[in-house]
Amino acid sequence: MVLSSVLGFPRIGANRELKKVTESYWAGKATEEELLKVGRELRASNWKLQKEAGVDVIASNDFSYYDQVLDLSLLFNVVPDRYRKHDLSAVDTMFAMGRGLQRLAKDGAPAVDVTALEMVKWFDSNYHYVRPTFSHSTDFKLNGNKPVEEYLEAKQLGIETRPVVLGPVSFLYLGKSDKDSLDLEPLSLLPKVLPLYAELLKQLSDAGAKSVQLDEPVLVLDLAEDVQSAFKTAYEHLGAEKSLDIVLTTYFGTVVPNLKALVDLPVAGLHFDLVRNPEQLDDVLAIVGENQSLSVGVVDGRNIWKNDFAKSAATISKAIEKLGGDRVIVATSSSLLHTPVDLENESALEPEIKDWFSFATQKLHEVVVLAKNASGEDFSSELKANADSIAARAASAITNDPAVQERVAGLNEKLSTRAAPFGERLKEQQPIFKLPLFPTTTIGSFPQTKDIRINRNKHAKGAISTEEYTNFINSQIEEVIRFQEEVGLDVLVHGEPERNDMVQYFGEKIKGYVFTVNGWVQSYGSRYVRPPIIVGDLSRPLPMSVRESVYAQSITTKPVKGMLTGPVTCLRWSFPRDDIDQRTQALQLAFALRDEVNDLEAAGIKVIQVDEPAIREGLPLRAGEERSAYLNWAAQAFRVATSGVSNKTQIHSHFCYSDLDPKHIKALDADVVSIEFSKKDDPNYIAEFQDYPNHIGLGLFDIHSPRVPSKEEFIQKIDAILKSYPADKFWVNPDCGLKTRGWEETKASLTNMVEAAKHFRNIHTKKD
Ligand SMILES: *[C@@H]1O[C@H](CO)[C@@H](O)[C@H](O)[C@H]1NC(C)=O
Ligand SMILES: *[C@@H]1O[C@H](CO)[C@@H](O)[C@H](O)[C@H]1NC(C)=O
Ligand SMILES: *[C@@H]1O[C@H](CO)[C@@H](O)[C@H](O)[C@H]1NC(C)=O
Ligand SMILES: *[C@@H]1O[C@H](CO)[C@@H](O)[C@H](O)[C@H]1NC(C)=O
Repeated sequence: MVLSSVLGFPRIGANRELKKVTESYWAGKATEEELLKVGRELRASNWKLQKEAGVDVIASNDFSYYDQVLDLSLLFNVVPDRYRKHDLSAVDTMFAMGRGLQRLAKDGAPAVDVTALEMVKWFDSNYHYVRPTFSHSTDFKLNGNKPVEEYLEAKQLGIETRPVVLGPVSFLYLGKSDKDSLDLEPLSLLPKVLPLYAELLKQLSDAGAKSVQLDEPVLVLDLAEDVQSAFKTAYEHLGAEKSLDIVLTTYFGTVVPNLKALVDLPVAGLHFDLVRNPEQLDDVLAIVGENQSLSVGVVDGRNIWKNDFAKSAATISKAIEKLGGDRVIVATSSSLLHTPVDLENESALEPEIKDWFSFATQKLHEVVVLAKNASGEDFSSELKANADSIAARAASAITNDPAVQERVAGLNEKLSTRAAPFGERLKEQQPIFKLPLFPTTTIGSFPQTKDIRINRNKHAKGAISTEEYTNFINSQIEEVIRFQEEVGLDVLVHGEPERNDMVQYFGEKIKGYVFTVNGWVQSYGSRYVRPPIIVGDLSRPLPMSVRESVYAQSITTKPVKGMLTGPVTCLRWSFPRDDIDQRTQALQLAFALRDEVNDLEAAGIKVIQVDEPAIREGLPLRAGEERSAYLNWAAQAFRVATSGVSNKTQIHSHFCYSDLDPKHIKALDADVVSIEFSKKDDPNYIAEFQDYPNHIGLGLFDIHSPRVPSKEEFIQKIDAILKSYPADKFWVNPDCGLKTRGWEETKASLTNMVEAAKHFRNIHTKKD
């Protein structure tokens, strides 16, 4: 019989119950008991949902109050000393490690002030995990037994589960050494963590568990020899626990380059992502041992599209042919953590489009149908309905817009190259802008006050007319313009009071996008995002941002930047289509934005900024051809969006924290780029830009912190940079938009920043 398996289910709850209770716990409004109770309820309802859907292998320990990797650090007592000093409860220690803790001295208890551990992106997803942080003094031991408790909790509900734990090689490889132990190589800790894993497996087996899922997603990365051979060491150690089956799971890529690490491992089963890399099937089939099972990940854990049963069936059949039905398991490609919980109540979606989607709850049914059909049960009517839906989507006028397809097909060199090289553009731009040395600007957004959000909601609900709302937005823009004039900035922005989110705002105006009301996905901790969905060929029927920019420019004599979100960022922060490649989608967005850029120029906007903060995160996980192809098309998309303007129009771009290699920044050919520099201590980084002809704005203060840097601090920083970077290409700006800041600190910080720029302007002008 072919079994069905789900590698993990979203823990946030259908109506964000986890976020609500966690945030009230942080605010001191909910007790620890209330927090734990909601956790138990969410786990119970997720298990029941899966059981009722007929899923055979249901995961436990996929739940977490903050992050599953952080949970494992706590379980193995990988807790840096700074979090131990304060006698915090287990729950508070976890939150302190995840998000930092600042608590004033109270009732005789001393003050606490610890920053969070580093948080990093979980592979190429939009989830972020808390990095295990090791030091020489880490006292490895089992600390609590969360996986066992949660296994037993499910068992008491009559539900047999398979606990999931991040595997030993991935746990170490994804971690880092703490600042007091920089010489410590995390992988060298394998002999210390293996006994803990072995003890955990034994406890699970004693509690009645029959198998365990050990996730080893690092197998899809480029791994050095010693990392590859660590798998043999690790799994030979763990395989000694014969009473429990180990299923080793990988996802988000192909394991083929690391295949030899998997050969002959003493594990009962292997799982692979055959949505992302279906072509790896032949290679993995060749290494499945004679008594091992193969879990085929055919239902996408990363996207929202209805499964194409016929396509999945081909994969499943091939596996069954080789191994027999008893050794094949039909599974989700990864945990469903990365998909929204339930499609059912998305009533705002057109029925035609809604029928194309499948969220986590719907995906449960998909794995079950595929597994049962493969076991010979009759699902002909379901299969027919699925085939009809897939065909309808492929043929739909919503999916296909011949005009857009033609435009992308007609892409040529000229459409992605500016009329003149930077040097000549600069000569034409200088007399227009007459900017001083060290020109100052900001990144785009200004504080989004409560007043702005209230008015936006009122307008959305129809409580105020569009005219009233427009007047309100104009008044906000005017305030921001006057403020910048007063502070003495050189290139102004309109402040973006009309925008809710940098992708959603444009997505709502681009044809081919749809939105959910409740399609939340965890990004980290209690921060969830609701990505827009690309359903069809993309185009821009009407101007999206021209009105606000033109209004702002009409009330000042200083240049005002038009502000847009770039094609790659729009793509990365959406659920993309799975029926055409990402490059094509990026180029469609690029053409839509090109129309906007050209309209802004035609309306008299002389400086236009196209932001690409997500360009770095789209980088494929493995080096090599795929990565260079990505970098090429990402840069090409940016140039398509921005090269339609005359030599005289100045194009800016901003990358926020995306640590982009200077040579890839150069490929965009923007006139001015701004990069985060407030947290970089590395003077070599800026030296790499010395041969970059275009201008750079170095983000000089961290807008994520309410701290106000003094004028002297700015001066020191600029002075240090000037040692390896020329004054005549140097713009001065903060490192990100100011949306989340308050007015008071914004004013103080920007004033100091402008004063520092003036200081250097005087020095350098006297020199000339
Ligand atoms: C597979 O299982 C059979 C029966 O238990 C056993 O005889 C055989 O040695 C096993 N093969 C491997 C490679 O472990
Ligand atoms: C359903 O099962 C039949 C018979 O095993 C198989 O030929 C077919 O490919 C399966 N289809 C799907 C969509 O799983
Ligand atoms: C969907 O809406 C119905 C009716 O309001 C409600 O009973 C149900 O709980 C909702 N489902 C979810 C997942 O929120
Ligand atoms: C831009 O500059 C190039 C090179 O100097 C020149 O050939 C071209 O005519 C200019 N284009 C416009 C629109 O001014």
